[in-house]
Amino acid sequence: MTDDNGAASPAWDTFLPGDAYVGDAAVRAEWDSRYADRQQLWSGRPNGALVAEVAGLAPGRVLDVGCGEGADAVWLARGGWDVTALEVSGVALERAAGHARDAGVAVRWVHASLTEAALPPASFDLVSAQYPALLRTPGAAAERALLAAVAPGGVLLLVHHAGMDTQQAHDNDSGFDPADYVWPSMVDALLTDDWTVEVNEQRPRVAPDGGAGAHHTDDLVLRVRRLR
Ligand SMILES: C[S@@+](CC[C@H](N)C(=O)[O-])C[C@H]1O[C@@H](n2cnc3c(N)ncnc32)[C@H](O)[C@@H]1O
Repeated sequence: MTDDNGAASPAWDTFLPGDAYVGDAAVRAEWDSRYADRQQLWSGRPNGALVAEVAGLAPGRVLDVGCGEGADAVWLARGGWDVTALEVSGVALERAAGHARDAGVAVRWVHASLTEAALPPASFDLVSAQYPALLRTPGAAAERALLAAVAPGGVLLLVHHAGMDTQQAHDNDSGFDPADYVWPSMVDALLTDDWTVEVNEQRPRVAPDGGAGAHHTDDLVLRVRRLR
């Protein structure tokens, strides 16, 4: 593959460890260290809420936000979707790219934080964010970036673990404070007349076996469609 100047450029499905990262170095380091602690952090299987919600959609361009080790991205690519997968952790992305190679599918890997990635605006038929751990900012940058990426007629699917948003910071010793993160209700609060809410509910999680998140039993599912 060559670029406009005839120079060699990496294939879309290649993630190079040296790729320039765009985003907060501390966030990348924190997630890299979490992934590096284990050979495999998540189950390796696609998320149940994604599988259920995508069932009625025609494959198109999809953005997987916080793709982790790539199980959703690979599953979507196998299903005929044109997949762009974005992630802050290079450790996770290397694993994800390896899984895509093993599966023989092409995925565009973006090593960046959602709010700093130069994503084409209003370009994705589906933006999927599964348990994305996005940090909250005063200007709601992450919530706005999720919405801005959706093409007219397209869908944003944001899934989170139920109960985490209302957990008290002092209930846990992990240092986790729900006030630091973006939850589906915060995206819902920003919707204008250009959007319609198709699903906004808590429901039992169809959890893949294994993986670090297996103990979470319920999902918050927000599925909204951009009308124009
Ligand atoms: C709980 S994991 C979920 C991973 C994957 N979606 C899954 O369901 O297996 C959250 C992911 O979000 C990524 N992440 C955190 N902050 C991010 C940001 N600002 N932009 C993109 N990804 C981010 C983390 O590195 C991590 O891989």
